[in-house]
Order: sequence, then C-alpha cells, then structure tokens
Amino acid sequence: MRVRSKNFRSNTVEFGHGHSKLLDINDLSKVFIRGQGFSKTRLVAVNKVSLSLERDKPEIFTLAGESGSGKSTVAKLILGFEEPTSGNVVYKGEKISNIKGSMEFMKDVQPVFQNPFETFNPLKKIDSYLYETEKNYRMPGADEHRRVKESLELVGLSLAEIKDKYPSEMSGGQLQRTSIARALITKPSLLIADEPVSMIDASLRMSIVNLFKSLKEKENVSIIYITHDLATAYYVSDRIAIMLRGYIVEIGPTKSVLGNPLHPYTKMLIDSVPSPDPTKKWKEDIVLSDMESSEFARKGCKFAGRCPEVKDICTRCEPESVKIDGRNVRCHLYQ
Ligand SMILES: Nc1ncnc2c1ncn2[C@@H]1O[C@H](COP(=O)(O)OP(=O)(O)O)[C@@H](O)[C@H]1O
Ligand SMILES: [Mg+2]
Repeated sequence: MRVRSKNFRSNTVEFGHGHSKLLDINDLSKVFIRGQGFSKTRLVAVNKVSLSLERDKPEIFTLAGESGSGKSTVAKLILGFEEPTSGNVVYKGEKISNIKGSMEFMKDVQPVFQNPFETFNPLKKIDSYLYETEKNYRMPGADEHRRVKESLELVGLSLAEIKDKYPSEMSGGQLQRTSIARALITKPSLLIADEPVSMIDASLRMSIVNLFKSLKEKENVSIIYITHDLATAYYVSDRIAIMLRGYIVEIGPTKSVLGNPLHPYTKMLIDSVPSPDPTKKWKEDIVLSDMESSEFARKGCKFAGRCPEVKDICTRCEPESVKIDGRNVRCHLYQ
C-alpha cells in the first residue's frame, strides 16, 4: 500500500494528531465533461463548496437538495473516489489525495450506501461480509468475532439474528442496519451515508436516523447524512447545507435554516413534496432533464429561472456566500 504521508506510517499511530478539524473542505470544485465532439459540455457538478467538521465535536451534518445538485459527487470526493478539479478536501490535517487507499483512512471514514439490496450479493451469506471486514482490517479479536458482535449490538441486532442468512431473508431495514454494522467494525470517526433511508419503508426510516443519533452520542461518530428528506434531516441533524446545481446556497444550524429559511430555493424545498426518484442514478440517466442541464449552464444564480424573487442581477452575476443570521447564504437578496 502506498502511503505518502509520514503520519500514516503505522497502524497504531493516530494520524493528523493535533488538528482541530475532522474534515475541512475548501473551495472544492468538480467539473465533468459530458457528451462528445461538438456537443461536449462542461458541467460543474460541485462548485466552490466549503464546509468543515470539528474533530472534538461529533455532529450529524446533512447535505440536502434535489436530485442532480451534486450531493453524491461531494460524498465521492470526500471518500477519495473522485479527484477534485480544484480546491481540496483535508481529513484530520491530511489531503485526501495523499491518504486515500491507506488502511487508516479506509478504517476511519466509512461509506453507507443507499440500497442495502445492492450492497450485499444475493448469493452470499451476510454474516460473511462482517467477518471479512473484521479480518481484512485486522481488527483485534477477529478470531472470536468480537468486533462483529459489538457492531451488531450497536445497531440493535445480534449475531444469532443474521447468522447464515441470505440478503433475501431479511427486510430492507434489517439489511441497512447490517450494512451500518459493517461500517462500524473498524471504529470509524466519520460515516458518509448517501441516501441511506430512501430505499427503506417510511415506517422504518426514523429508526435508522435514530440509530445515527445514538452513534453520534455514544460512539462519537460524525455522520454526513445525504438526503432529500427534510423531515428526518430536521429531526436528526445539527447542521445542514442546501445544495443547488453544485453550489451550497444555504448552510447553518438545521433548526434555523429549516425553521427560518432565507434562500428562496430552501423555501421552495420546504414547501414542495420531493418528487425526484431517489433510485435513479446518473448512469441510467445519461440525458439530463432539460431543467437540470439548463440550470447547470446558467450564468448568475442557478435558481434564477425558478425563483419567485428573481431580480435583474440574478441572471448576470453569481451571488457570493455571505454570513447572515447565523448562517451563510448565496443569494442576491442578501448581498
Ligand atoms: N461521472 C460523471 N460524469 C458526468 N456527469 C456526472 C458524473 N457524476 C455526476 N454527474 C452529473 O453531476 C451532477 C450532480 O450529480 P450528483 O452528484 O449525483 O447529484 P445528486 O447526488 O445531488 O443527485 C448531475 O447532473 C450528474 O448527471
Ligand atoms: Mg445522489
């Protein structure tokens, strides 16, 4: 394994020690080139995004916004699955590009995926995933499956309940718990959960987000919770960032952003029932919706075409992020 950072040399040494930030994202952008030949277009999927999480203050941080706003791309940039076009992601004082792929980083930052039925191979017993994770990451006590048992307990399951079971023998809620247990085996500091409840029965969603809350409180795990379900976000998260076509347009404490939204886009999200199909991935959706592509191509504010409070300047100039009322907002109403 190639590990460039000197702080990453040993399994036992805590890396980036002394850095007060758990995660520090600075002016991060990701450009995708779409189409071919003359129809090539540049799409800025993540546009000048900045946010940070404190190291000694675990929190649940929500990234919300319509489908196609850049949420999953931010998640992939944090996990090191995508390379930034500009700006950077720093984790415990180390640039992700230097530490991704290292054992320490992969132990410390774990993804939780949207569809538990896709996370697990239908032909493989689910307990084997947990044992393999424990063994691959060389967790102490792996021979008696100590960490597997502890992690299952953390999510409210027991080894007896999942032993020798195939994915089809479990409910979506149980499977998602198992996939969260798998993520917890390595004792991570940060979970990146991309739409973790959208495939789960509405009646079970609350139990999963409650689980996140208890992991934060009891295990000091920070969680980036990606969702377009503002109800669970309101209930569970400490802070929220609202994304629109690559930009964070409003960011601050969840209760104030959702309780008293300032950006017209945040207001619209709160007022509307989210319609986009969360199961749709960009791969199956190569042709962007007309609205999505025209908004990405727009000059000025990406919301100008739909905004009830649009002014002349909104179609010409990109709004700066300004601090107001305990949060940051990108909107010409407040410049
Ligand atoms: N690998 C890629 N190549 C080209 N376009 C992409 C790629 N990944 C994402 N996109 C585009 O970037 C935009 C943001 O996508 P995404 O981050 O998946 O948004 P969200 O998770 O908020 O739905 C979408 O328009 C999507 O089509
Ligand atoms: Mg997504």
